[in-house]
Amino acid sequence: MAENKATLSVNNVTAEFDILKGTLGPEVIDIAPLVKCGYLTYDPGFLSTAACESKITYIDGDKGILLYRGYPIDQLAMQSNFVEVCYLLLNGELPNAVIYDEFCKAINRHTMVHEQIRYFFNGFRRDAHPMAVMVGVVGALSAFYHDTLDIKNPEHRAISALRLIAKMPTIAAMCYKYNIGQPFMPPQNHMSYAENFLHMMFATPCEETIPNPVLVRALDKIFTLHADHEQNASTSTVRLAGSTGANPFACISAGIAALWGPAHGGANEAALNMLHEIGDVSNIDKYIKRAKDPNDPFRLIGFGHRVYKNYDPRAKVIRETCYEVLEAVGAKDDPFFKIAMALEKIALEDDYFIQRKLYPNVDFYSGITLSAIGIPTNMFTVIFALARTIGWIAHWNEMISSPYRLSRPRQLYTGPTERKYVRMKERK
Ligand code: SDX
Repeated sequence: MAENKATLSVNNVTAEFDILKGTLGPEVIDIAPLVKCGYLTYDPGFLSTAACESKITYIDGDKGILLYRGYPIDQLAMQSNFVEVCYLLLNGELPNAVIYDEFCKAINRHTMVHEQIRYFFNGFRRDAHPMAVMVGVVGALSAFYHDTLDIKNPEHRAISALRLIAKMPTIAAMCYKYNIGQPFMPPQNHMSYAENFLHMMFATPCEETIPNPVLVRALDKIFTLHADHEQNASTSTVRLAGSTGANPFACISAGIAALWGPAHGGANEAALNMLHEIGDVSNIDKYIKRAKDPNDPFRLIGFGHRVYKNYDPRAKVIRETCYEVLEAVGAKDDPFFKIAMALEKIALEDDYFIQRKLYPNVDFYSGITLSAIGIPTNMFTVIFALARTIGWIAHWNEMISSPYRLSRPRQLYTGPTERKYVRMKERK
C-alpha cells in the first residue's frame, strides 16, 4: 500500500493516485486508474513517463551516474569484462569464479550459427548497410529454434539469451565480411569474447592474425559501456514487442531496427561523419553556429541526451580509451580526435550548450575509437547493437518473468469527427 497519495482535481472530478517510491530516482505517480475518471495523460516522447518497474540499470542524469545492478559503469569498464557484465545484467549479481567459468563455456557452445544462415546473406547486395542485414538475419534466427520459443519457459528464455549473446558477434562479423567480399571466419572458442570478434572481423584463411591486446581490451570496454541504458528507445521497443508475446529473436530484431536511427544508436556513425564534414579545427565555429540556429536542422551529433544533463559517464571512459587506442596504433595525432577535443571544449564553454545542459554522450568519442581499431563507419551501430543485445535480453527477460500486460498506449485524437462516405461521382 503506498504511503503517499497524489490528488488530481479537474472539472469537478477529484481522484487520488498512489505515489510509488523506488530505491533510487524520482518517485512515480501511478496514474493507471486515471482512465476511469474519463481522462488520459499526454506525454509524447515519454519525457515524464515511467513505462515500467526495473531493477537492472539506474541513471541519474543530473549527476551523470550510471549503475548496472548498482555497480558504477566506470568501475565495471575498468575492472570487469563484458562477459561478466552480461552475467551481472542478466542475473542481478556478479558471478563467482566457478559460475563465471561455466557461463563462458555455455556462451562458447553457441558461437556458431546454423550453416543455412550463410544463404541469407546471398539475398542481400554486397553494399547493403550492415544494420539492414543484422535486422534481417537476427529476426530470422527464430526460424531455427522452434523447440525453444516458449517464452513462459525459463529454460527456453535462458537458452535464447545464451544464443543471442554468443551469436551476435558471429553474425556482426559475417555482415562485415559479406560487405567486403571476404570469406566468413568461424568463431575461435579459445579466444575471449572481444578477441574472437576481432578475429572473425579481420582474420583471413590465408594467414593467422593475433588481435592487438590493447585493441581487444578497448573493444571489451566499449561493449561494457554500451551494454545497457535503462528504458532508451530501443530497449522500450524490445519491451513493447515482448509484451505481445513475440519470440526473443523477433524482439531483438525490433530493437536493432530502433537503434539504427541517428538520434539514438546511429549517432556514433553520424558523429564521425560530422567530424569528417567539419574537416578542420578552423571550421568548428561555423558548425557550432549552425547547431545553435533553430532554422538549421544540423545538430552536434554526439552531444545532448534525453536523460543526461551532465557529462555522460560513458563518454569520460571512452575518451580515455580513445587516446589509449590512438597511441597503440600510432595515431595519437589523429586529426578527427583533435577536432572532437576542440569541439567539446568550445561547446562546453558556449552558453547555448550550457543553458540546455548539452554534454558529450557515449557516441561522441566511440566513432573515433572504433575507427582507430580498424572498424569501418558503417559497422559502428552494428557494434552498438552487438553490445546492447545483453541489455535488451535482460529487460525482455525481466518483463516476461514477472506479471506483465500488453503495452498499448492511447492518443489525443484531433482528426475528423464522424462523417458519411461520399461516392466518387458525387465528389467535387
Ligand atoms: C544514445 O536514451 C538513451 O539512453 C540513448 C543512449 C543509449 O545508450 O541507449 O544513451 C544512446 O542514443 C545517445 C544519444 C545519441 N544521439 C545524438 O548524439 C544525436 C544528437 N543529440 C540530439 O538529437 C538530442 O540531444 C537527443 C535526441 C539525444 C535528445 O533530444 P531531446 O531530449 O528530445 O531534447 P531536445 O531535442 O528537445 O533538445 C532540447 C534543446 C533543443 O533546443 P531548444 O528547442 O530548447 O532551443 O537542446 C537542443 C534542441 O535543439 N539540442 C541540440 C542538440 N541536442 C539538443 N542542439 C544542437 N545539437 C544537439 N546535439
